[in-house]
Amino acid sequence: MLSNGDIQKLNETYSGKPAPEFLKEVLAKFPRTALASSFGAEDVVLIDMIAKVSPQTRIFTLDTGRLNEETYDVMERVRRKYKLSIESYFPENAKVEALERTKGFYSFRESIENRKECCQIRKVEPLKRALAGLEGWITGLRRDQAVTRAKVQKIEKDEAHGGIIKFNPLADWAQKEVWDYIKANQVPYNKLHDMGYPSIGCAPCTRAVKSGEDVRAGRWWWERPEHKECGIHKK
Ligand code: ADX
Ligand code: SF4
Repeated sequence: MLSNGDIQKLNETYSGKPAPEFLKEVLAKFPRTALASSFGAEDVVLIDMIAKVSPQTRIFTLDTGRLNEETYDVMERVRRKYKLSIESYFPENAKVEALERTKGFYSFRESIENRKECCQIRKVEPLKRALAGLEGWITGLRRDQAVTRAKVQKIEKDEAHGGIIKFNPLADWAQKEVWDYIKANQVPYNKLHDMGYPSIGCAPCTRAVKSGEDVRAGRWWWERPEHKECGIHKK
């Protein structure tokens, strides 16, 4: 396992490089690394880059069972365009069945604890399975997405997942850069983005934002900004 000093050195070596070069080099150095994709704007950018610089890299998605139809649609378009096998990880059926039997189908609206319980079953636990045996994972986190993300580094030690490396190649990208890349490279994207959804999670927990609202205002919109994390990005 890498020390904090090793992580700092890696940041010094790689963080200043443009994202495609960053990905090419860190994936060559840490080949047991996979991309976690929810197929939002950042993630399709990363898929396009990875297809160009390191096409053998594994790509997985946490299929919570509550995703929008538009999300499956972009997953399929991406799968076909880049000729990928997308590894989907589903929640444990017994846990979802027990949750729905005891608390119904919208328990996540009732309290933060219930919301976190649902995210735990549908995202956090499947992510643990997806990360088993990996030395690193790649995400589309950006600093300006949320107060909770302001300090994201391009290379971090993921203590919540056994100290493996977390790569966030777009940490310093602005939203506009993401969209410029998508347009310039004709990357398939989720149609919900054209319908006022800058950030997309599960269907019942995501709504469109109004003009002037921040990009994650439509995620768990009934909660305060500092609570709005599902638990997969813990320190
Ligand atoms: S979330 O934690 O609030 O859901 P967000 O939607 O902003 O996070 O996504 C941030 C990053 O987390 C994505 O770029 C992706 O790397 C990862 N991620 C989020 N949701 C999923 C998912 N369902 N499957 C795989 N990766 C995901
Ligand atoms: Fe459950 Fe909503 Fe979390 Fe999806 S985002 S796992 S539906 S609480």
